[in-house]
Amino acid sequence: MKNILVTGGCGFIGTGFIRLLLLDRDFGGRIINVDNLTYAGNPANLRDLEKRYPERYIFLKADICDTDAMARIFNNYKIDAVCHFAAESHVDRSIVAPDAFINTNIIGTFNLLEAARRNSNRLVLFHHVSTDEVYGSLGPDGFFTEQTAYKPNSPYSASKAASDHLLRAYSETYSLPVTISNCSNNYGPYQFPEKLIPLMILNALEDKPLPVYGQGDNIRDWLYVEDHCRAVWQIMLKGTRGETYNIGGRCELANIDTVNMLCDLLDEMQPRSDQSSRRNLIRFVKDRPGHDLRYAIDCSKLENELGWSPVESFETGLRKTIQWYLDNPRWVKRVKSGEYLKWVEEQYNK
Ligand code: NAD
Ligand code: DAU
Repeated sequence: MKNILVTGGCGFIGTGFIRLLLLDRDFGGRIINVDNLTYAGNPANLRDLEKRYPERYIFLKADICDTDAMARIFNNYKIDAVCHFAAESHVDRSIVAPDAFINTNIIGTFNLLEAARRNSNRLVLFHHVSTDEVYGSLGPDGFFTEQTAYKPNSPYSASKAASDHLLRAYSETYSLPVTISNCSNNYGPYQFPEKLIPLMILNALEDKPLPVYGQGDNIRDWLYVEDHCRAVWQIMLKGTRGETYNIGGRCELANIDTVNMLCDLLDEMQPRSDQSSRRNLIRFVKDRPGHDLRYAIDCSKLENELGWSPVESFETGLRKTIQWYLDNPRWVKRVKSGEYLKWVEEQYNK
């Protein structure tokens, strides 16, 4: 893999993946990051690497739904591997406005697969970064395995399920070398503050209400973003082509317990001036329609076959995450105020 096309590299997990490959890993090749910079994409996340590795890191603003642009990029940059992160990723947005999810997640993935198929003489791998939400919702017991039938419940998860099916079909029909990973909930640096953990951290730091859907008893399985990125890279290096791998943290928590834990850590790391507990900011609000009750991943295939295991516990990962948001007030201000969107407009849309 000499020229890896990373899609959606200016988003939360894509940023983590590119940083991992360029800074921490024994990867000597080139990364071509294609992102069309939606509200969730922030090229400033990688500005330092752009300067440090001008030969090895290239950013291109382009939409994965643009057929001509993708054909040009595959050709011009001699793409031999794809790590596909680009997506509309937020479930609540998919409930209000599903269109963009269908376009980017389904049509965009199809478009990339077609570009890959036309370059299949050179292509060694097309990896799709997918989600455990394709499996639907669990009751109180059991785990999602790679054999669990797909049963997506939101427009977001249905669109990701469709894109997984397309990869499988391209593998079977055209022998395209593909791998798929289905991961649980991520948290960590650079996450857009619409998702539970960064939203709660930033609201709590500003003494704003902490909106918990329903009774807070929905369960999520949390994984620190760097552990996810390491798993994706292991799969790209060593995974069997045509296979799916589940990735999870073996860290199930009810949302209310997650929010309580966050409040307590914040109280310890940045106490309020009156020393009161941030738990008193919690408000139970109207539930999300079609809210999946429980996700829990069985990741033994990844552990046993590829030797992966997470490095961070939930507590160490949360501490690092909180510290990152405390240490990066400029990033927070620019993202929350939408300043970065104006900057993107000036830099890239002239
Ligand atoms: P994100 O929303 O933070 O980032 C998505 C990125 O894709 C952004 O930079 C955005 O600008 C870009 N993008 C969107 N539409 C595009 C288009 N049409 N063309 C080019 N670029 C486009 O998402 P994330 O949380 O980093 O998730 C990345 C991937 O991982 C997604 O595919 C998501 O389904 C999957 N995933 C996320 C989680 C999670 O907990 N966040 C867990 C499992 C899997
Ligand atoms: O499981 C993997 C998925 O995890 C990814 O595929 C998605 O891209 C990612 O967004 C995430 O989906 P969730 O819907 O689980 O994440 P979110 O952070 O939106 O919500 C986590 C839980 O917290 C969920 O049960 C809803 C709840 N919640 C969320 C928000 C934003 C609240 O109670 N209050 C909130 O304000």
